Amino acid sequence: MTTTTPHSLAIAAKGLRKAYGDKTVLDGIDLAVPAGTVFSLLGPNGAGKTTAVKILSTLITADAGELHVGGHDLATDPQAVRAAIGVTGQFSAVDGLITGEENMLLMADLHLLPRSEGRRTAAELLERFDLVDAAQKPVSTYSGGMKRRLDIAMTLVGGPRIIFLDEPTTGLDPRSRHNMWGIIRELVSGGVTVFLTTQYLEEADELADRIAVLSDGRIAAEGSAEELKRLVPGGHVRLRFADPAAYRSAAVALREVTPLAPGLARAGGTPIDEALSLQIPSDGSQRELRSILDWLDSAGIEADELTVHTPDLDDVFFALTGTADVPDQLRKAVR
Ligand SMILES: Nc1ncnc2c1ncn2[C@@H]1O[C@H](COP(=O)(O)OP(=O)(O)OP(=O)(O)O)[C@@H](O)[C@H]1O
Ligand SMILES: [Mg+2]
Repeated sequence: MTTTTPHSLAIAAKGLRKAYGDKTVLDGIDLAVPAGTVFSLLGPNGAGKTTAVKILSTLITADAGELHVGGHDLATDPQAVRAAIGVTGQFSAVDGLITGEENMLLMADLHLLPRSEGRRTAAELLERFDLVDAAQKPVSTYSGGMKRRLDIAMTLVGGPRIIFLDEPTTGLDPRSRHNMWGIIRELVSGGVTVFLTTQYLEEADELADRIAVLSDGRIAAEGSAEELKRLVPGGHVRLRFADPAAYRSAAVALREVTPLAPGLARAGGTPIDEALSLQIPSDGSQRELRSILDWLDSAGIEADELTVHTPDLDDVFFALTGTADVPDQLRKAVR
């Protein structure tokens, strides 16, 4: 990555900083997004994802940082950046009083498309986003998911090469979400760069070439989904109990356990009270599972449900953004 210049990247940020009053939101972050890839920014509520999107899409200014989007310097040439990008904000920007089609045509006008081309583009996008039947109805009558789809359709009107999507599928049902993923993949295969924030780790896993986890104003880790998953020892066996008494005695037994099994010895299980569940760290190997099952038998513990959990992005997310003790080596970025 050291050999790539800001100009050969679709999005490049160096030392991006932003504070509101004395609250530092982005504390000098670096980003490098090659053209034609999907980059996903993850982080808990309030981490600064929307702030990053707003800065990179020229809606607000940064306090510091060298920022280039589409090869243009955000500080000196925001107009050129604006011409190269499309933005779908976290909260809907559609006008509820007019129809879906009118919203689309308004966007076409804003992009100065000739009337016939504007109509053609609007019709194509309404079709692609499954909004043909609703096109003549006022947007105030749309469901949340329909508004979201219209929002994104409007983003695509000018044929932008770089798209910022701030939580594009929040509130969409599973089918609409999968459709959206299909559309994002199509865009990327056509060379479009997508900068995506999401609360759905599954979404980042599905779509993103690279993922960065934002925490406390910094990038806590960055890499492909696979690289990030390798950072956390998130594998465990989960035992669920229907009976609170059985749960309690299992929790006590787990806490008292001596190094009987490698998995049990490592952490002694973590009680999760509300769900009446216990977690036993495990790599999921046959050997560890056998020793865990043997121990459960000998301790007379019968769980109502036993599931084996291999690390996923959720584990990465909790390990890096939670309050849990995370070893320093987990916090360092994979670059
Ligand atoms: N205009 C503003 N004035 C003051 N503080 C702000 C402003 N906009 C955002 N913040 C603060 O900056 C922090 C980051 O907010 P931001 O909206 O970027 O988070 P986010 O990661 O997008 O969160 P979410 O997942 O909830 O959308 C929050 O603490 C928020 O309160
Ligand atoms: Mg946000």
